[in-house]
Formats: sequence, C-alpha cells, structure tokens
Amino acid sequence: MTILQMQQEILRLKKQNDILILAHSYQGREVCEVADFTGDSYALACKAKTAVQSTVLMCGVRFMAEVVKILAPEKRVLLSDSGAGCPMAEQIDAEELAALKEKYPNALTVAYINTTAELKTLCDVCVTSSSAVKILKSVPEKEILFVPDINLGKYVAQKLPEKQFYFMHGGCPTHVRATGADVARARREHPEALLLAHPECRPEVWEQADYVGSTSGIMNFARESSAKEFIIATENSIAEHLQFECPEKRFYPLSKDFVCHNMKLTTLFHVYDCCTGGGEEIVLDEPTRSAAKKCLDRMIELGG
Ligand code: 13P
Ligand code: SF4
Repeated sequence: MTILQMQQEILRLKKQNDILILAHSYQGREVCEVADFTGDSYALACKAKTAVQSTVLMCGVRFMAEVVKILAPEKRVLLSDSGAGCPMAEQIDAEELAALKEKYPNALTVAYINTTAELKTLCDVCVTSSSAVKILKSVPEKEILFVPDINLGKYVAQKLPEKQFYFMHGGCPTHVRATGADVARARREHPEALLLAHPECRPEVWEQADYVGSTSGIMNFARESSAKEFIIATENSIAEHLQFECPEKRFYPLSKDFVCHNMKLTTLFHVYDCCTGGGEEIVLDEPTRSAAKKCLDRMIELGG
C-alpha cells in the first residue's frame, strides 16, 4: 500500500467502525491528515468530553489517552502504541507527592496534565501549558505546589508574582535539550526571525522568546503574525506542520535534537492497525478514574 492508499483505507475504516481519531500536534503529518481533530493537550481533553463516536483513538502519549478515558469512561479508548509514554509523567509517584504535600500543607496541589492517572488522584487541579496562568490566577490559594515540570512552573510563577510557588526538579527530556547557546546561534543565523517557545523549555530559552505558549498557541501566533521567519523552540513537528500550512513563511527548528521519540512511535500503520482491531485499550479502575476526574473537571471549569 502507498501512504495515500493507507490513509484512504483509514478514513473508510474509522467511519465504518465509529472511531474518532485524536492526534496531538507532535504527530507526523501523515497521521495528522487522517485525524478528526489535532491540537494541544487542553484542546484534546475538551474534545474527549464531546466525542460522539463509541471508540476514541489517541495518537499521542499514554497520559493523553488516560485523560480521554477519565473524562469519557463509556468510550473504548485506544492508545496507538503501548510504548508511547511521556517520561515526564513518570517523574513523580504518589508516595513522593504525598511527602511534598506534607512539606507544604497550605499549598494547592497542581498537576501538569503530563502526569499519570494515579498522580492526578492526589491533586487539586490540573493545568496545561495553555491554561496554567489563567487557572492559577483564578484560584484563591496563595501557595502553589506545582508538579512535575519546573520550567513551566517557573514560567507561570513569573506571571503570577503575588503567589508563592514550590517546585520539584522535573521536566521534559526533549525540551531541556535546548539551551541559551542554541538561541544565540539561531538568532545569528536568522536575525529577522521571531523566536516562539514552549514553556517546557529552560527559562534561558523562553526568557528570550518573542512569544511563549502551548503547541497550539505557537501555531496560531505564527499563522496570524505578519512576520515572515520564525525559530520554533518546541518539538520539530510543529515547524514542519507550520511550513506546510504557510509556505510563504520560513520556520527554523531551534535544534535538530527537538524530537520527542515517544510521540514519534505512532506511525500511520499503527493507526491502520487500531482501526482494524489493534492498539492498546486503556483500562482504569473506577476509584482511580473518578478520583482523577476531579482535578480535570476543575481544569476545564476554570480554563474555560
Ligand atoms: P501542549 O499542551 O502545548 O500540547 O504540550 C504537551 C506536551 O507534551 C508538550 O511537550
Ligand atoms: Fe512528554 Fe516532552 Fe514528549 Fe511532551 S515532548 S510528550 S513533555 S517527553
């Protein structure tokens, strides 16, 4: 089969088998092209709640498929590749979080959505990169225990100086590869380009950015901007998608190492396989699911 033939077969099969295909924007183009919806983690979570299909296939990483199952338990939820986990989601377990909560008893416990379902059961509210500032600005608590991403946490903290933040030393192994030296080199090579950065980057990267936002935020900014050149400081699929969408503009990845190998595990064949009975079905026990749902419901309520 050619790529096109496989894509056509997937489009036929997903209709026949009542499957909604969700794809995070870090997926490759051939996967995004067969998806019903592509977006950042906040938008994917909201989409899960309104899906009408009986099966939802998540082309992304495990915590994203878990979020779908938590919010839409009546659906059959598939993860395209069992090995696709987010390493950051595994950086803190329930026992370690319990110890941190004891250390900061007055703090609101805030989980980045890149966490396991089990960890979410111990948190007060979940946030994503696109919703964190808005959500934490709206809560009455002055003290915030933010896990696991210290870079995103610091970005939010400098936007909300009235709050006291406590962090752990977690972070995305892909985003931390980019450094201030990469920014200096990219600026030298592309002096006219705007730097658009994800807040999972180190502060030395996002402090120099012309725009900081989620994957969808970066894409919307670049689409709407009158500028012609952009340095993209997040996973390299974003630069590729933008280059296809806006061929009159130029998009330069900040670093060739900006590749999330977990996101890239899903191939078009995995999608085809899931449409014909394959894939891993996400199963969560009911007490975990319903306890984890509370902080996601609060995220959607406060995030709008
Ligand atoms: P977004 O919410 O911006 O899509 O980020 C998810 C993620 O895993 C970034 O590395
Ligand atoms: Fe996780 Fe980083 Fe990959 Fe996002 S880019 S899924 S945070 S490892």
